[in-house]
Amino acid sequence: MFKSFWFWLLVLLIAIQAFSLDVKATLPIKEREALEAPKEVLSILKRSCYDCHSSQVKAPWYYNVAPVSWYTQLHVKNAREIVNFSKWNSYTKEKRLKIAQKIPKAIVIRMPLNSYLYAHEEAKLSKDEKKMIKKWARTLKEKLN
Ligand code: HEC
Repeated sequence: MFKSFWFWLLVLLIAIQAFSLDVKATLPIKEREALEAPKEVLSILKRSCYDCHSSQVKAPWYYNVAPVSWYTQLHVKNAREIVNFSKWNSYTKEKRLKIAQKIPKAIVIRMPLNSYLYAHEEAKLSKDEKKMIKKWARTLKEKLN
């Protein structure tokens, strides 16, 4: 009985690998579309946001293994739809403005996602880093207005 449970679990795990969201961790990049920002800001964004909001997601092994992949890839898919910083310059002014307006609140309340921080403690933003990102978002807004 016990043995067959593990056997069927294994069969199930193998079978579900056929159901993939197919969200690629890396997409082709055009240098001229990538976000430009002060070095300190860019390095924070790369560390804490680019694993979802960019075309250069660092995918750990479980990124492609179902059922975890459904979760990780869906996050990347949804995050990229909101903002993919690797495509920043291809966005309309309105879209950039909308994102700049959302960033300050997002980093206080939900970003990076809590579930992500469990596995990526290094992505947590310090108070000073939050201040820096907020200030940058404000400048961005002023420039776009
Ligand atoms: C683990 C993946 C992940 C990481 C890391 C992450 N985000 Fe997100 N982000 C998402 C997803 C998924 C959404 C859309 C769904 C939602 O709002 O929960 C989102 C939504 C947003 C939004 C829109 C919020 C709104 O009010 O509509 C902003 C702005 C944002 N993220 C900024 C950031 C910034 C800045 C960072 C880095 C500090 C970051 N995110 C890190 C996954 C992520």
